[in-house]
Amino acid sequence: MSNTHDRDVSPEPDHGLTRREALAVGAAAALGATARLSEAQDGVAAGHRPVAVASKNGLEAVGRAVRRMEAGLSPVEAAVEGVGIVEADPDDVTVGYGGLPNSEGVVQLDACCMDGPTMRAGAVGALEGFKHPAAVALEVMRRTTRVLLVGEGAARFARSLGFPSENLLTERSRKIWLYWKGQMSSIDDWMTTPEQVQDPDVQWFIKKFGAIRPTGTINLCAVNADGVLGGTTTTSGLFFKIPGRVGDSPLIGAGLYVDGEVGAAGSTGRGESVIQVAGSHTVVEFIRAGKSPREACLGALDRLVRATRMPYLLDTDGRPTFDVKFYAVNPRGESGAAAIWAGAKYAWCRGGTEPELRDCASLYPTPPPWRKDS
Ligand code: GLY
Repeated sequence: MSNTHDRDVSPEPDHGLTRREALAVGAAAALGATARLSEAQDGVAAGHRPVAVASKNGLEAVGRAVRRMEAGLSPVEAAVEGVGIVEADPDDVTVGYGGLPNSEGVVQLDACCMDGPTMRAGAVGALEGFKHPAAVALEVMRRTTRVLLVGEGAARFARSLGFPSENLLTERSRKIWLYWKGQMSSIDDWMTTPEQVQDPDVQWFIKKFGAIRPTGTINLCAVNADGVLGGTTTTSGLFFKIPGRVGDSPLIGAGLYVDGEVGAAGSTGRGESVIQVAGSHTVVEFIRAGKSPREACLGALDRLVRATRMPYLLDTDGRPTFDVKFYAVNPRGESGAAAIWAGAKYAWCRGGTEPELRDCASLYPTPPPWRKDS
């Protein structure tokens, strides 16, 4: 089956197929081949705010976030409203309603948010039955003295606040999950029928994702006209994950970090790799040390790739068999994004402009062999 990335996704390596004894020795050399786009494209010189940046699937979301900031919402609130579009979209199978389920067919969502001025944060992990986990995370931040609620406790919290509970598994996602079960092994009880394979939804999945197990997500970071920062990250996580698996998205410092005086950063892609290097916090620390948002994203990716040492995560050239992207903005409205592999896009919007897709900088100068498009 073919691999492709039309949502903002990163494949989970197939351990059986990619096991190699190579080490990640190519990353440093590759880093020199980066900075592929001019800083001007990221609005570095413009100084015009508000600005919102997001993963590629956040094109509409950045527009909404900017409009909400112009209407007076704080950046963290505007960010959560922005990503609500994607959480409610059944056609984005990587986030919220219609997100692909865990291995037992249950949709479990992760999200967090963080407010720059107060550095308060809220998060939910493995939340079932509520399609707007970022909004629930915002309430954790607003209404409690805690940061992270998980599982049934998070669901009870959402229920107590009146969030509507619903089944998030769409017909399309259910059919794709059953197809995946049938494909898993010849020594379990499940098979794939010809009718299943011919189903238009299953065909759509095969064409878009093939045999890979992507980790799609939306991150959105925002700065308002006064230089106030906020952000959010929300996801249904790794396709067909072990029930209870939580990735980087709800973890402050991993999938999102905001320091009101320095910058806001977030991630999409292989969550475990982001967690291992506290990725978004690392981006913000590089900004603190004087890097532009784009260079900070590249610096964090370089660290992440150097930390990728297990053979099952590396190709024969010692390069990761997955992608990670970081997105960042600073209080001046300068922004940027970078991916391990070339060919990725991110969403950007500034007050008074239409949302647009821009090219991410990248560690490696070519698209990965396993990606058919970006
Ligand atoms: N970055 C999303 C995840 O790994 O769950």
